[in-house]
Amino acid sequence: MTRLVVLISGRGSNFCALAEAVDRHELNAQIVLVVSNRPEAAGIDEARKRGIPVAVIDHTACADRLEFDRAVAKRISAVNPEWVVLAGFMRILSDEFIEKFAGRMVNIHPSLLPAYPGLHSHRRALADGVSEHGATVHLVTTQLDGGPLLGRVRVPVCVGDTETMLNERVLQQEHRLYPWVLNLLIEQRLQWDQHARQLLLDGEPCDGVELQQTEMNSA
Ligand code: GAR
Repeated sequence: MTRLVVLISGRGSNFCALAEAVDRHELNAQIVLVVSNRPEAAGIDEARKRGIPVAVIDHTACADRLEFDRAVAKRISAVNPEWVVLAGFMRILSDEFIEKFAGRMVNIHPSLLPAYPGLHSHRRALADGVSEHGATVHLVTTQLDGGPLLGRVRVPVCVGDTETMLNERVLQQEHRLYPWVLNLLIEQRLQWDQHARQLLLDGEPCDGVELQQTEMNSA
């Protein structure tokens, strides 16, 4: 069974969506550890309720970024996962950490990357008056929110949308997108060819898979 470690910083709704997809046998994997850098993260209780081991490594108790990253890397390596899954993990990671897990670490970001990397993506999308927004799953590289795009989902931006409304609409789709893309990776249908710097779907070049909307909630 493919082993996943999930890194969170807060609410953990993407983690819960992954755990539920595992329970429903839609994601052929096992979440072997959840790591949080924040002791108060709500996602910790969700993990404990599900009987998933949790490591809380408070970044404020570490001397510097490298000490924190090395502590996290040690906990991850101890459980030997195939994939490291960033799910609302709001810490910039050091190059040393990223290189250690290169090619097997993914992130979900609430925008159609390369648009709106970094913070406040919904606010910035609304300020620009875009008609379309969404979420992206990508491989993590040392470039912030800039690694190879694996998959994405689009949502409409509606007249009168607030940041909260747009966030909710995107988040619902994130919960569908992340298990779907992870499953394609686990099944090795989706593969990043590092040598050719090309994503492959079923062996054919691909620019990233796109999840189609089914029950899009425009509220
Ligand atoms: C999600 O919207 C995720 O895309 C975003 O944080 C939220 C976490 O929610 N991640 C980032 O902005 C990373 N750059 P969750 O804790 O409920 O999964």
